[in-house]
Amino acid sequence: VSLAGRNTFRVAARAAMMADVSRADALAELFEFAMLREGPVLVLGEGSNLLFAGDFPGVAICLTMAGVRIVQDDGDTALVRAEAGLAWNDLVGWTLARGLVGLENMALIPGTVGASPIQNIGAYGVEVGEFIEAVEAFQRDTGQVKRLAREDCAFGYRDSLFKREADRWVVTAIELRLPRQRELRLDYAGVKEELAAMGVATPRAVHVAEAISRLRTRKLPNPALLGNAGSFFKNPVVDAAQADALKAEHLALPVFPGPEGQRKLSAGWMIEACGWKGFREGDAGVAAQHALVLVNHGQASGAELLGLARRIAASVRERFGVSLEPEPRIIGARFDDAA
Ligand code: FAD
Ligand code: EPU
Repeated sequence: VSLAGRNTFRVAARAAMMADVSRADALAELFEFAMLREGPVLVLGEGSNLLFAGDFPGVAICLTMAGVRIVQDDGDTALVRAEAGLAWNDLVGWTLARGLVGLENMALIPGTVGASPIQNIGAYGVEVGEFIEAVEAFQRDTGQVKRLAREDCAFGYRDSLFKREADRWVVTAIELRLPRQRELRLDYAGVKEELAAMGVATPRAVHVAEAISRLRTRKLPNPALLGNAGSFFKNPVVDAAQADALKAEHLALPVFPGPEGQRKLSAGWMIEACGWKGFREGDAGVAAQHALVLVNHGQASGAELLGLARRIAASVRERFGVSLEPEPRIIGARFDDAA
């Protein structure tokens, strides 16, 4: 089966087989088949965080259940249960329409609900892990559906247990605890300005969602028009001493607080400083409006995009002494393999 229409980079790739799953309790039976029990399995959402560097020799599983409901409500907060196949942005809209707040800064992130805990999606100063009360997931090695509390999910910056143990878990649903009242998070650069430009003086969560949607539409290429997977690299986290030294040498380098006293550096800034913004070779390139986004102008192969990514990382390492790690999952190759 072709995967070309099932990844937002829109690179040509094939899977040996594809299976749609519409019920969590069908997974145990499905995994009885030898091909799934023993062979490689890829859980595929919208393919907005994947780079196929080659064909996938196993079975791609797509979860189609897309229910969403409030399972408990104490007046101040509600517990929302959403199934894996629902589009993330539909969940954002669904919650806001019911007066539940918190997800507004994550409006318009592509992908499915099931993928949201995998890399603990986040944007504009908020991450989904903050709201997750539990993740329901099928554990392949035991054949059971488990309910993992947030503390068990090891959420970090673009990281989780599920990302580290890729293919061990099939996320079937998430449960989010969402408040009705919450202070809005407007500190991320550009948000207040966008609200002002919209003419909104006293913003509510829906306005924030709208402002962020507008910002994203301007800053990021639309995958429907230009193949991409969002940020191709994570913003590197380094210790404070290294950040201070880099900052002394490169005054304009944006540096943000990171976990455990560390610092997060802007990968986009460093890539732009190396001259890559808007670069194109064949159909593989770097977005003209954002240096952190690799793009496919049409017929680029996954291998070509990967080759470009490796050259970008090498130039950043040479110039800044910082290693970049890819954010999307790369299928069919390891990032650090010699090109
Ligand atoms: P896929 O790409 O299909 O899969 C991604 C990974 O998750 C794979 O390893 C896959 O096997 C695994 N996976 C998917 N579903 C499941 C499941 N149910 N169970 C187990 N594993 C699963 N991300 C952000 O965090 N913040 C952003 O602001 C952001 N902006 C983006 C902007 C653009 C234009 C694009 C194209 C991407 C952006 N992303 C962003 C990345 C992407 O939207 C997220 O990573 C999203 O969660 C991926 O969802 P998906 O359904 O497309 O997953
Ligand atoms: N910058 C440049 N040149 C560029 C792009 C950015 O110098 O070409 C600098 C600017 O100084 C800018 C700063 O980088 O102010 C930050 O840029 P931006 O606000 O676009 O955020 P980012 O750090 O590049 C991260 C996430 C995005 C998320 C935004 C908003 C990562 C890897 N990426 O990008 O997530 O939407 O913040 O919160 O953390 C994704 O994960 O796919 C993704 C798009």
